[in-house]
Amino acid sequence: MDNLVTVQDYISELALRFDASELFYGHGTDNSYDEAVYIVFVLLGIEFDQEVDLSAKRLSAGELTKLEAAAHRRIDEHIPAAYLVGSAWFAGYKFNSDSRALVPRSPFAELITSHFAGLVDTDPQRVLDMCTGSGCIGLATALTYSQAHVDLVDVSKDALALAESNIFLHGLESRVRPLLSDCFEAVTARYDLILCNPPYVSANEYAELPSEYFAEPALGLLSEDDGLALPIKLLEQAGQYLAENGLLIMEVGFSEQALKDALPELPFLWLEFSYGGSGVFCLTADQLRGYSATGK
Ligand SMILES: C[S@@+](CC[C@H](N)C(=O)[O-])C[C@H]1O[C@@H](n2cnc3c(N)ncnc32)[C@H](O)[C@@H]1O
Repeated sequence: MDNLVTVQDYISELALRFDASELFYGHGTDNSYDEAVYIVFVLLGIEFDQEVDLSAKRLSAGELTKLEAAAHRRIDEHIPAAYLVGSAWFAGYKFNSDSRALVPRSPFAELITSHFAGLVDTDPQRVLDMCTGSGCIGLATALTYSQAHVDLVDVSKDALALAESNIFLHGLESRVRPLLSDCFEAVTARYDLILCNPPYVSANEYAELPSEYFAEPALGLLSEDDGLALPIKLLEQAGQYLAENGLLIMEVGFSEQALKDALPELPFLWLEFSYGGSGVFCLTADQLRGYSATGK
C-alpha cells in the first residue's frame, strides 16, 4: 500500500484486489472498477461530475487509513459499498443507505425516470410506496412529480426511520409522510399509483444468495410460501386502496413465473426494461377489483 500514492493508483489497485476476492456486484454497480471508484469518490468527498485529475491527487495518510478500513470490510465481510459509505444513488437522486433497509437497486428507477412511459398519462396526485425501505421509490417519484403527495409504508420502524431521514434529505416533509403499517393495515387513503417492491425471496433461494445479501435485513427479502406470501396478500388488498383509474405496479423479480402459475386468472402486464431488470408487472384498479370480487 505504501507505494499507492495517487487516487488513480489506489482505485486501480483496489479494483484488482476486489477481482481477487470473489465479491458479488449488484447493489449499485456491476463490476470491480466502478465499485472501487464509488467507494473512493464518496469517502474522499469527490463529486461524480467534478473534474479532478486523479493521477495528480495524492492520498494523505488519514485518507488512506479511511479507504483501507472500507476496503477490508468490503473484501472480508462482503458489506455492500452503499452501506460502507452511507449512501446510494437511485433514479438520479442520492439517498442515505444503511443496514436498516435494502440497498436501492430496483428496476423501478427506470420507470420513474421515464415518467412511467406508456403506463401513466396524467401526473399522479396521490402515490403510495408500499414496502418502502429507504423510501427510494416513493421519494424519487415525489421528486419527479412536484405536485404529488406520497405515503411511504413499511412494517419496520428501522426502515421507516431511514426513509424519514431521506424525506428530510430532500426537503419533502410537506408532501411525503412515513407510515408504519403491516401491509395496508394502517392505510386509509386511495391512490392514483401504488408502487411496491415487497419481499419476494423464498427460503431456498435466500439460502443460496451471495454473502452481500446477508448484510441486508432479511425482512426486506424473505417471504413465505415460496416467496409469494407477501405479493399475493398485497395483490388481494391493493384494489381497495386504488382510485377509480388507479394503477398498481409491483416488482416480484425471479418469482414472476411462480406468481403467474399461482394466479392464472390475473391479466398481469409484465414490463420490459432497457437498463436491466425484470419481474415487474402492472394491473389496473378495475382488474384488481375484478380479482377481489372472485372471492380471493
Ligand atoms: C424488497 S424491500 C424494498 C425496499 C425499497 N422499496 C427498495 O426498493 O429498495 C421490502 C421492504 O418491505 C418491508 N416489509 C416487509 N414486510 C412488510 C409488511 N408486512 N408490510 C409492510 N412492509 C413490509 C421491509 O421492511 C422492507 O423494507
